[in-house]
Formats: sequence, structure tokens, C-alpha cells
Amino acid sequence: MIIKCLKQFQYHLLHWYHRTARKLPWRKTKVPYKIWISEIMLQQTQVQTVIPYYTKWVRRFPTVRSLANARFSEILILWAGLGYYRRAQMLHQTAKLLCAKYQGRLPQTRDGLNKLPGIGPYTAGAIASIAFGENAAILDGNIKRILARIFAISHDIQSPRTINHLWKLSASLVPKSNPGDFNQAMMELGAIICLPDTPRCHQCPVTMFCEARRLNRETDFPFRRNRIPVKKVRQVALVIYNSNHEILIKRQPDNGRWGGLWTFPFGDNRKEITNELNIDNQSLKQIMTLRFGFTKYQVQLKVYENQLPKTDKRNNERPRLKNSHLRWVKAVKLISYPFPAPHRQIANQLNHAK
Ligand code: ADE
Repeated sequence: MIIKCLKQFQYHLLHWYHRTARKLPWRKTKVPYKIWISEIMLQQTQVQTVIPYYTKWVRRFPTVRSLANARFSEILILWAGLGYYRRAQMLHQTAKLLCAKYQGRLPQTRDGLNKLPGIGPYTAGAIASIAFGENAAILDGNIKRILARIFAISHDIQSPRTINHLWKLSASLVPKSNPGDFNQAMMELGAIICLPDTPRCHQCPVTMFCEARRLNRETDFPFRRNRIPVKKVRQVALVIYNSNHEILIKRQPDNGRWGGLWTFPFGDNRKEITNELNIDNQSLKQIMTLRFGFTKYQVQLKVYENQLPKTDKRNNERPRLKNSHLRWVKAVKLISYPFPAPHRQIANQLNHAK
């Protein structure tokens, strides 16, 4: 983009952002710690989902030090439902590192931030520009789409060469003054206007700079050679009651996807779970079906209920369940355990049904 156009592009985008941007809680602050938390929470997660988590988090852990000193079990409770739990582990680990080596402060440059665990080039660019005013570039799926349209890039958006080129383009657009607002304006444009399937070009503040629009081919970009197919997966979860009206829950192994969180016993089919728990498979009653996605999977989770008979051995085992990852709890106590979102949904429905 030639310099004159570039200045106008920046001006139009920033002007639009200042007039119309959503009032998000992390936009009220420049405190690097809070910007860091918001950017980590916003990785792969919708803004509306993040808002209540962010608000509770910064109230409970207002500083790097308060986070470093927290117990991980408490951190997990605040994170439960946000998904991608590695992020919570990384935040804790990084907070401890910052206290040990950086007097509890974040490094003030993109390169310094990029060296910390869990902070990749996108997040480093976002924090450096928003919190420290560095004119650092950002590039995620939304920004790639915007750039692919503005510059009508007809190469495969997933190829390393194109990605390298897009980083350079992104860097060439960021102004020296107000880079944080500019980057957030690009994020806002990707979230509200330059949508994947139905871009709102009539409301776009930079439509006059958009080559894809000029060609009337907005949705031809970004071009992808191989779209990743979504895999369908079926799973089953069991809500098992004992004769004390307690429900069986299971703590997930630390190294798994839901490491440290609690779930209802689940698996690929009913038999697998009932065998594992050594209970009868006959009297299961289906009570709900949930659908959720994660990474490239689309999961259908069928939920069954089972009341163990009074005579069942497991009832007598109540205080001494052999497997320490299993626990009997009352329905009203379920909410005090950190559950991943789909299992929390089951727990909420059980409590509502009461
Ligand atoms: N996505 C990633 N970072 C964001 C931010 N600061 N505001 C809105 N959406 C975002």
C-alpha cells in the first residue's frame, strides 16, 4: 500500500474503532498483567465467553504475584468451562517465573514477551502494542482473512510462505502512534465486519482499500488449498446415583486434555464405562444429548442415567472407593468442582431438573 493510502487506511480504521468499538473490560486498562490475562483467555475463545471469566479472574488475582502464590486447584475453578486448560497451567507457571526472575513484571518488548511460556508471536504482538505502545504486528485467523481480502491474496493462506508474507503486510500497516488501538481495531473489524461467510462490506470503514471488494470477490478470499475436514465423534457419559442420592464423578488425569478437572464418567460407549466401573449396563436411561466442538472434532455426547440398586456392592464401598480419581458427591455440591464446559452443562441441567 502506498504511503498516502496507508495513512488514510489507518485514519479510517482508527476513527471507526474509536466511534463504535465494543466496551470490553480489558479495553479500560493498560496494565500489562491484565492485558496478558485477557489475551490468553481470548485465544481460541469468543469475546462474550471471556468477559465474565476475565472479570472474576482480575478481581481474585489482581497482580502477577497474587497469581503466582495461588494454588492451582483454585486457578482451575476460575478457569473451568473456558477450555484449553494448558493455558491456565501456563499462566500459573509464567506468573511464578515472572516473580522469580523479573520482579513480578512482564518484559516490555514483543521479543521479550515472546520468550515466555504460552506467549506466541500473536499474543506477544498484542500485549506489546496494547500495554507498551510498541508498533508490533499481530496475525491470527481474523487478521489473515482481512489481509487476504484487502490485498486479494490468491496463494494458499496456510502455506508458510504466505503466512510469512502476511506477517510482513500486517507489520507494514501498524502505525507508530496508537499501535494498540490500531491492532484492536483490526481485531474488531475481523469480529464484527469482515466475517468469514457474509462480510458486511457496506459497513466497512476501509472498504475503499479492499481489492477483493473491488473485484466483487470478497468471499473468494482467503484461499485455502485443503480445508481440514471436521471429524465426528460419538461419546457417552453416565450420571450414576447411589442409594444416598449421590452422583459419581471422576478426576481426569493431569496430562490429559482436561487434566485436573472433574467429569461424569465418560467414554466411547456404554459398555466401556460400565465395564470399567463394574456396574450393570442394562438399566441405563438416556436423559440428554449434547453437541460441542473442540479443535477439529465435532462431538455428540449422549448422557445416560443409572440408579444403582441398594444391594449393589459399590454402595457399600462408599467411603472407600478404590480408585482415588472417583468420588461420590451430592448434586448440589457438583458446582464446587471444576468441570469442563460440556460436563458442567450436564451438572447444571441435573440441578435445574430438581
Ligand atoms: N481477540 C484477541 N484479542 C482481543 C482483544 N484485545 N479484543 C477483542 N478481541 C480480541
